[in-house]
Amino acid sequence: MVFVRPADVADEKFLWAMLFEASYARDRGMVSPDELMDQPKLAKYVQNWGAAGDLGVVGGFDGVLLGAAWLRRFTAEDAALGYIDSDTPELAIGVAPESRGTGLGTALMTAVLDAAREQYDAVSLSVRLENPARRLYERLGFVDVPGSEVINPAGTTSITMLLRFR
Ligand SMILES: CC(C)(COP(=O)(O)OP(=O)(O)OC[C@H]1O[C@@H](n2cnc3c(N)ncnc32)[C@H](O)[C@@H]1OP(=O)(O)O)[C@@H](O)C(=O)NCCC(=O)NCCS
Repeated sequence: MVFVRPADVADEKFLWAMLFEASYARDRGMVSPDELMDQPKLAKYVQNWGAAGDLGVVGGFDGVLLGAAWLRRFTAEDAALGYIDSDTPELAIGVAPESRGTGLGTALMTAVLDAAREQYDAVSLSVRLENPARRLYERLGFVDVPGSEVINPAGTTSITMLLRFR
């Protein structure tokens, strides 16, 4: 049975594993989530998880953790790829490869966005143009931010998407 619960400080190690999935690190030749710690552009999404404003959920099936969706605010000086402003947190999501397409990603997104709605006006994310996850984000109300296309660390194009709650 599917479960989703809030991500706490003790889940940081699992978030590194899910960041490995979210960032397609394997395609970049990495073999372990530990390697992400030396990549500042990616590490900033998880490093010191549990800081003020951090909000996330983890979940899976039958008690086994298989995915996470989390968000964090950045500053202009320390902007992540989908940066809008210092009030707008950026979302990251990853599901273990064997569990994709099972509805877990939707459950995680719904839960984290329900929580985010309570304390933020909007949420952004950065996604590769060719990523099928764009369909999931559109279904949940995210729209493309015009002119936000950038070349990502993998050398392909990413775009920022934004969901406004109010
Ligand atoms: C994106 C992701 C978190 C979605 O979780 P999921 O459990 O597969 O999602 P669900 O089963 O609830 O929903 C299915 C939707 O997820 C997306 N999806 C499904 N398989 C996917 C895959 N292998 N890669 C990317 N997105 C996928 C599609 O949008 C799909 O909708 P569609 O059926 O209309 O095409 C998960 O597929 C994943 O971790 N993908 C790889 C990492 C990634 O792309 N992260 C997001 C970076 S911005």
